[in-house]
Amino acid sequence: MEMKKNCERMMHNAGPIEQELLPRLVNVTEAAAIAAAHQIGRGQKNYADQVAVESMRRMLNSLAMRGTIKIGEGERDKAPMLYIGEHVGTGEGDLEVDIAVDPLEGTNLTADGVPGAISVMAMSEPGGLFHGPDVYMEKIVVGSEVVKYEKENPGERIDLDAPVQHNLEIVAKALKRDVEELVVVILDRPRHKGLIDEIRNSGARVNLITDGDLMPGVATSIRGSGVHIVMGSGGSGEAVLTAAAIKILGGKVLARLVLPSVANNKSKEDIEKEKREKLPRLEKMGIKEENINTILDTEKLVPGKDVIFAATGVTSGQFLRGANLFGEGDARVDTITMGSSGVVKFTDSIYIKNKETTPLRIK
Ligand code: FBP
Repeated sequence: MEMKKNCERMMHNAGPIEQELLPRLVNVTEAAAIAAAHQIGRGQKNYADQVAVESMRRMLNSLAMRGTIKIGEGERDKAPMLYIGEHVGTGEGDLEVDIAVDPLEGTNLTADGVPGAISVMAMSEPGGLFHGPDVYMEKIVVGSEVVKYEKENPGERIDLDAPVQHNLEIVAKALKRDVEELVVVILDRPRHKGLIDEIRNSGARVNLITDGDLMPGVATSIRGSGVHIVMGSGGSGEAVLTAAAIKILGGKVLARLVLPSVANNKSKEDIEKEKREKLPRLEKMGIKEENINTILDTEKLVPGKDVIFAATGVTSGQFLRGANLFGEGDARVDTITMGSSGVVKFTDSIYIKNKETTPLRIK
């Protein structure tokens, strides 16, 4: 009985964005994922991205809301659709939302037909998502047990500037296991060589991924996923999207902006060129060069109170099956959605296009 009351309270406490838009978000990421799924294994990452973007944009424009893209396909001069600042939605109704999208996270994974690609987005009330430019964020992502451990043990906190060993020991204590039993997910990039060596030297195990560091971040807050920490630098949009899910699930992200040319040890000329191009954009967003190293926590990345998140599998992943295409345009897709109320849903959707030729399949 008490359980029933709790569920009802959670649903009633959901904010207007969660109540009205979350059920529709499933359709948005599912449509983009199905569009991308038709391009799996075709070796054309840009085209796979393009069809996912077009589909997501059409779906967003059918929603009754006034939405603004805060994290999207890039700056207006580089991206024709879902660019930062683009207004989406029908413009009807009272709902005003900020939106972070990654219509196809894992463009290479899709083109190569390998696991880990998703279609993903998050929304919040205006001002609820960090308005980051198209650079990297260096980050550490951990689950809710670490947050609890830090609360119970003041002074023991993970820290982006601390040695890797320090952070791993805190996570190990929080998870009541040895450092040797931890799995750290990190993008396999030359820029991470030193970090990977440090993780291995401290005894933890490393899971190198070729692309797609967003969902492993979310997985740190899912027991049984086998992912305990995500480290290293990756897309800033991916970091904010991870933070949206992690905030809902009670985990923690620490991140700071870094220019890709700096992270990838490019030449002085390349760094200067990137600074000339990106620093003015950062300034417009209120980030001065001297503050670029400021550490951003989950609250700074996602200050929103009415936050929603949805991700649909394109190729198979840790806890989302890949899109299954069968029959004449029929498809089956797997989606995770969640909102600030704490309600998490897994949706297994089957789209039957032709009822006469394709019976409903459950396997
Ligand atoms: P795309 O899907 O946009 O290609 O991004 C994939 C990705 O691997 C992200 O998951 C990650 O954050 C970023 O690229 C890393 O960037 P880089 O490939 O420059 O290291």
